Amino acid sequence: MGGAKNSALPLMFACLLTDEVCRLSNVPEVADIETAARLLEGLGARVERPAAGEMEIDCSAVDQWVAPYDLVRKMRASFVALGPLLARFGRARVSWPGGCAIGSRPVDVHIAGLSRLGAAIEQEHGYVEAQAPKLVGGHIILELPSVGATENVMMAAVAAEGVTRLENAAREPEIIDLADALVKMGAVVRGAGSSVIEIEGVAKLGAMEHAVATDRIVAGTYLVAGAISGGEVEVSAARAEHLQSPLEVLEAAGAVVERKTDSVSLRMDGRPRPFEVATAAYPGFPTDLQAQFMALACLADGESRIDETIFENRFMHVQELARMGADIGLAGNRALVKGRERLSGAPVMATDLRASVSLVLAGLAAEGETEVLRVYHLDRGYESLESNLRRLGADIRREKA
Ligand code: UD1
Repeated sequence: MGGAKNSALPLMFACLLTDEVCRLSNVPEVADIETAARLLEGLGARVERPAAGEMEIDCSAVDQWVAPYDLVRKMRASFVALGPLLARFGRARVSWPGGCAIGSRPVDVHIAGLSRLGAAIEQEHGYVEAQAPKLVGGHIILELPSVGATENVMMAAVAAEGVTRLENAAREPEIIDLADALVKMGAVVRGAGSSVIEIEGVAKLGAMEHAVATDRIVAGTYLVAGAISGGEVEVSAARAEHLQSPLEVLEAAGAVVERKTDSVSLRMDGRPRPFEVATAAYPGFPTDLQAQFMALACLADGESRIDETIFENRFMHVQELARMGADIGLAGNRALVKGRERLSGAPVMATDLRASVSLVLAGLAAEGETEVLRVYHLDRGYESLESNLRRLGADIRREKA
């Protein structure tokens, strides 16, 4: 099990805060990480991979503060470069990310937070332009616990003058990972992982070496792979404490889960029992595992209920699962899934990262062959998916990239 891309991305952007060389390890080799590396290089950074999973980032020569449209459009997480660029240059220009397949995904919370630190922010020609000759700590209450907004504010506040108190902060493990790395750089950050984070600004940040935390969403995906195929799986390096809610749902579905110090294993006999899921901010059930669990519900012995409360349009996999014989009724943000004994393999189309992996999971359990098109979505966040699934006994191959 590799590092979390959602941790690695902000950690890479945090390197912009220093002109010393930073070293990250356990960096996953996925397309989103490459996009972030291209973005940093475009700003003037040197990004190298001395060995598998390792990354060396030297931002000493960075002299640009513009994150261009062609990279931000590929990956919304690039918007998190705004905070560190602003901290470093007193100005930043980052392409307005726009919506994406799963929802409108505005950035108002990011902008409100950075404004409270003294930034003047405007939208012009499709870009967000931020200026702050001097960032000053402040009291910020986020309107909702946005992961990206929490990261943006943290990375600006570490270099602001004075203390920032950030309330209603996101509590995701990725926030703790970022705070740990910032502290290694000399920042003063307290309370990450709770909903109140306090940051004391410092004059200068230095180098850090940091191992990216493991990917809880990838771990959860492999556990569902075990559950959906009625088998056994052990996910090494998975941290059960980051997966509390999904593990409880798997248990409700009848899986036997063993939480070990450095792995999680699962055994499933027979069909899953129906279950109920409502996505929520951490420590609630992650929206990034909703599609995978829906694939599991398609085979349950009864009706499951899945509420998506984070993104307004994150049910695109429903139509594709229906092509495989799934019986799913949609009403607003609620899906009622009547489990079937069998799904039948079919050609299906991936629409986003997590939706695409849910189709692969459904394909594992379906009778006959399933062909997943637009598989490049998978490569944004899953490393060696085919070979890992083959090790679990799946018959899966990539036809073309
Ligand atoms: C991060 C994750 C993504 C995950 C999501 C929710 C990364 C790189 N991505 O995305 O995989 O699905 O958290 O767990 O870490 N919102 C606003 N205004 C804002 C910001 C957010 O209304 O300014 C809304 C969003 O539209 C969404 C909700 O808040 O409905 C949560 O979004 P947020 O936590 O910001 O997600 P991301 O950081 O974009």
